[in-house]
Amino acid sequence: MTFQIDESLDWTEHYVRHGMAVVRGLVDRTFCEEALAQVRRLVGEDRPTAQWTRRDGQALNDPDARPGQWHYGFFQDPGRAGMTTQNPVLEKLYDQPRLRSAIDRMFGDAEAWDGVRNYYIFLNPFNPDGEARLETTGHIDFKVPAPILYRGFTFQIALLDTEPFGGNTTIFPGTHLPVQRMLMEDPDRKMTEQAETGIDAVEPYEFVAEVGDVLFMHHLVFHSGNPSHAPNRTPRLGLHAEAFRARWLTEVDPGEKNLSPWQRSLAGNGPYRVGRDEAAGQRAMRERYIAQIETERRITVEDKWKRYSDWPEPGA
Ligand SMILES: [Fe+2]
Repeated sequence: MTFQIDESLDWTEHYVRHGMAVVRGLVDRTFCEEALAQVRRLVGEDRPTAQWTRRDGQALNDPDARPGQWHYGFFQDPGRAGMTTQNPVLEKLYDQPRLRSAIDRMFGDAEAWDGVRNYYIFLNPFNPDGEARLETTGHIDFKVPAPILYRGFTFQIALLDTEPFGGNTTIFPGTHLPVQRMLMEDPDRKMTEQAETGIDAVEPYEFVAEVGDVLFMHHLVFHSGNPSHAPNRTPRLGLHAEAFRARWLTEVDPGEKNLSPWQRSLAGNGPYRVGRDEAAGQRAMRERYIAQIETERRITVEDKWKRYSDWPEPGA
């Protein structure tokens, strides 16, 4: 038995309580079809998607990759991974009007999203040697220290219809609450792997999608990739993207009026103020990447990227 979405809740309320939400058909098929055509070009696959398979020795298919790990990153922010290729077709994901409204609704403010376009292609083609099963525990995408309040959330747009056991992302709903509580008690605690935390396994939610469906994910909810072994060999293909605020959140109080859904999703363990600069780790990484780009490419990186992690500072 897997977790079922509570259809009685508005999707933002579902996100607050469960650390995840799904909005069906949020992105127009026209965009998804253009994006799929673009992915076909990028990975050099013109065959029907059910014929895409994991093959050893090809760039598309790293034989050592774990399920869900075929991630092609496109970062507008050079401080994330150095200078990455940009893609004018795929990045239009951020121009989809209903998706943009959803981001604004989550942040409770049409000016809050910082406009930075960082996203990945998440491709998980059929693995003939795989198994039709789901992982029983998950991970979060942070090592030590994990940010307790952070600056945003991620979401995944389905570019293909998928089947159960088709290598879909799974979420362990509600785990954002105990993860955050344990971090509040000990901010240096390692929470990366659920198995190391003592947090009980819960039933996973498998994001079985139709084209244009969007999964929203809390930064502290456990989640997992899975083997791609669906009956009709459908691959999982999605765009996995970040929505960040210009300012990091430094304080939350559930008693405050008019909190946004995103803030409420961080207020489930009571009032909290961060005890240290949560951006410090990213700032150190940014300094290294930008110095490397400027030295190796002999170009000057725009000043705004050097200060991107500092945007919590008022007026910055
Ligand atoms: Fe992850």
